[in-house]
Amino acid sequence: MTDDIRPKPHTVAASRVKMTELVLPNDTNILGNLLGGRLMHWIDIVGAMSAARHSHLVCVTASVDQLDFLSPVKLGEAVLLEAQVNRVFNTSLEVGVRVFKENLLSGQRLHANTAFLTFVGLNAEGNPSRMPQVIPETKEEREEYERALERRRVRLERRRKILEEKRT
Ligand SMILES: CC(C)(COP(=O)(O)OP(=O)(O)OC[C@H]1O[C@@H](n2cnc3c(N)ncnc32)[C@H](O)[C@@H]1OP(=O)(O)O)[C@@H](O)C(=O)NCCC(=O)NCCS
Repeated sequence: MTDDIRPKPHTVAASRVKMTELVLPNDTNILGNLLGGRLMHWIDIVGAMSAARHSHLVCVTASVDQLDFLSPVKLGEAVLLEAQVNRVFNTSLEVGVRVFKENLLSGQRLHANTAFLTFVGLNAEGNPSRMPQVIPETKEEREEYERALERRRVRLERRRKILEEKRT
């Protein structure tokens, strides 16, 4: 950590990013379902954009929490991804990405997935750098802000165990 002065805080809304993708043949498996890896790629991209929009730093993915694919997304459906900064820690922050699938012909829209990612902001020398705090404004944003602390505890504990196992 190299920077001492933390820049001005921003609201959650200021760095929210929405992205829409159309599921094309190259995005699917032989059953015509969206590939999990393609969805993970989109989640990572939209999350990184939100983290960078908030911090004005190059942000790298430090971790992705568990991902459950609840129902298949079919060829020809639209995927709507919405990313927001839930909480900033020091040099890292948590982004939540909500994923919806939409049948463009029927208009039916379903919540397909939620992912939590941790990004670390790097300065020009490539070192982790402190990030501006985020200001939750709505009830939902405040709830996510509170829950993010416990999620961080769990993922740092998991990381500690992995590093410990590596050493032994
Ligand atoms: C992420 C990375 C920059 C962290 O660097 P590091 O030298 O381990 O730095 P630190 O231990 O000081 O950690 C920096 C911050 O990252 C957080 N962090 C690191 N690993 C983490 C993990 N697995 N999960 C959650 N947070 C993590 C730390 O808690 C710390 O956050 P804080 O300052 O807000 O408390 C480094 O591990 C890296 O470059 N990883 C590869 C990133 C990458 O290539 N991503 C693309 C996927 S292939």
